[in-house]
Amino acid sequence: MTCVLAIETSCDETAVAIVKNRICCSSVVASQISVHQQYGGVVPEVASRSHVEAINEAIAQAFLEAELGWDAIDGIAATCAPGLVGALLVGLTAAKTLAVVHQKPFLGVHHLEGHIYATYLSEPELEPPFLCLLVSGGHTSLIYVKDCGHYETLGETRDDAAGEAFDKVARLLKLGYPGGPVIDRLAKVGNPAAFPLPEGKISRPDGGYHPYDSSFSGLKTAVLRLVQKLEQDTSELPVNDIAASFQETVARSLTKRAIACASDYGLNTIAVGGGVAANSGLRKHLQAAAASHNLRVLFPPLKYCTDNAAMIGCAAADHLSRGHTSPLTLGVQSRLPLTSVMQLYS
Ligand code: KG4
Ligand code: ZN
Repeated sequence: MTCVLAIETSCDETAVAIVKNRICCSSVVASQISVHQQYGGVVPEVASRSHVEAINEAIAQAFLEAELGWDAIDGIAATCAPGLVGALLVGLTAAKTLAVVHQKPFLGVHHLEGHIYATYLSEPELEPPFLCLLVSGGHTSLIYVKDCGHYETLGETRDDAAGEAFDKVARLLKLGYPGGPVIDRLAKVGNPAAFPLPEGKISRPDGGYHPYDSSFSGLKTAVLRLVQKLEQDTSELPVNDIAASFQETVARSLTKRAIACASDYGLNTIAVGGGVAANSGLRKHLQAAAASHNLRVLFPPLKYCTDNAAMIGCAAADHLSRGHTSPLTLGVQSRLPLTSVMQLYS
């Protein structure tokens, strides 16, 4: 067994976990949502400062919950990319410092590789190849998972991420931040067929069309136009029906692409990750479509879908067990393609 202490601070959760291979021994998540809510979104400077304030306590808590000491730890990992640079620096610096003090190997982890590994925490028997549909506030990707460190991004969003679209539509409906959970709740009592909305038109900068790419900014604009028109015509906005129609369009669009991609590449398992994996409309559509195509779809528990350090520890434990470690000179990067994961290790 390889036991890793992992730190995740790429956005607005200060998270620390202790993981043995694919078993989560403890997972602490100190959420900053209430701090950012008053601004209507994540403020990078505030996120960095909040990470500094929360990190030592989160590390102590992770050891306490796992009932383990430093002698059990084989390596120390932190998310190093992609994410908010100042926020990433807090976790990475803490991990490097602890690695030096306790003389343990250090590993930087790609945040999206962490999201892919989240599925292993609830499905430890799962092995590649499989398709990962990653739908979060920052990403909408279809990833061909080949092996540890080896990925191919088959589709991504041309503009807004799926979660970002939920947040923006919630803002224009004056529903607060984050938007996904409230839209999901209202959609349950709304009519998804009330307002037909357009799925995004997708073309690449070279003019080419890509069947697995998504686009949500056109949909967001269509909702804006609809709201403006309804505000002129009616005194009370049919918020539930708008939420249901919007959610239906996003769920249909993501399902269509994921099913086509898995079928075309002969992959029989789709693992879903990221905060939008919680969405009841997406779950319903994808499960029904997967069943009719003889595909298996895995939705890990929400605590592993949204940002957490257990998924980072799970990825790091696999790399460490293969002898991969990172140099202490490794820095943070706001962007890094998944194809560059192996560059983090020597
Ligand atoms: O994975 P995550 O916690 O953080 C990122 O890495 O971005 O995802 C957060 C996103 C937010 O945009 C939030 O609105 C969305 O996930 N989200 C949802 C739901 N719960 C969270 N979107 C749709 N339906 C939900 N139930
Ligand atoms: Zn994430």
